[in-house]
Amino acid sequence: MQDQLQALAQEAREAIERAATAHDLEAARVAFLGRKAGRLRDLMSGLGNLPPEERPEAGKLAQAVQKEIEELLAARAGELTETPPAARKSKAAALREASDAERLDVTLPGRAPRVGTRHPVLATMDELISIFLGLGYKVAEGPEVETHYYAWQALNYPDDHPAMDEQMTFYLDNGLLLRSQTSTMQIRTMEVEPPPVAYIVPGRTYRRDRVDATHHHTFYQLEGFKVAKGITFGDLKGTLIAFARALFGESMDVRVRPDFFPFTEPSAEFALTCTLCAGAGCRTCSGSGWLEVGGCGVIDENVLRNVGYDPEEVSGFAFGFGIDRFAMLRHQVEDIRLLWSGDMRFLRQF
Ligand code: DAH
Repeated sequence: MQDQLQALAQEAREAIERAATAHDLEAARVAFLGRKAGRLRDLMSGLGNLPPEERPEAGKLAQAVQKEIEELLAARAGELTETPPAARKSKAAALREASDAERLDVTLPGRAPRVGTRHPVLATMDELISIFLGLGYKVAEGPEVETHYYAWQALNYPDDHPAMDEQMTFYLDNGLLLRSQTSTMQIRTMEVEPPPVAYIVPGRTYRRDRVDATHHHTFYQLEGFKVAKGITFGDLKGTLIAFARALFGESMDVRVRPDFFPFTEPSAEFALTCTLCAGAGCRTCSGSGWLEVGGCGVIDENVLRNVGYDPEEVSGFAFGFGIDRFAMLRHQVEDIRLLWSGDMRFLRQF
């Protein structure tokens, strides 16, 4: 009896699994659980013929089989209503469905691949470099991590000079520091190349400045210097004018006013005609018509001696300014922090 029940359960499982339509499923239900001619009922009617001690166990099994079949029927019925059996679909309908899924709408606009752009500061740097290449300068690059000697001493800073405080930078544990100006490269370049020399040095610089709309701890500078026989302050000014006009047009002018830097004598700060108001005076130039951009001067004789040049033989000028500032002027960016925020919404504009 028990074996028969097990066999019946197995047959029922297979039949329910095979049922492809609600109709098949109903047929299976009637065949196994039907009240009149169902096979389970048929078997159970034989219970009474068993010896009394076997009856309870066989009865339990019969109930378990009935329960299982009922559950399988319900589960399969659920599946059949969710996804109507593919077998009933006509071939043509199936084909139509497949081609609908793959249909190509040639009128949809294409998806353009996104092309990256140069960072506005680096693009500006490239432009500045090409102007100075045109004026006969060579490009040098050098270390951002420097020694005390190249950062200060060789540039004629006395050991405790307050001008170093103005350029407070980051000192490393091993006594080295991050350069606060690209002027360090005047020394490294002239040390290894005899005059005449004419170089520009674009590069990254660091200061412990509080970050705000116009200051950043990391920024770019462009240094320039020229040393040869008979170079004067006039050559410096002429060079700055030529540069400003190449970049912003013939209406540009350059103003130089006395300043102090340890490595130049005389020293000056230089300003360009305000690019926003063309010199009339506006908010950006605080009404003055000029934008201060950098420092410059005639290279101090001590610096020339420090690199092994003879100040009786040659003289030179030097200048330096921030590249970020030029990029901001060019694109009318009002906050330097935007340049280094990594915000793609900002960068994609360029
Ligand atoms: N290095 C200076 C600064 O960062 C700018 C500067 C001034 C550069 C005078 C020069 C120079 O070459 O001659 O503030």
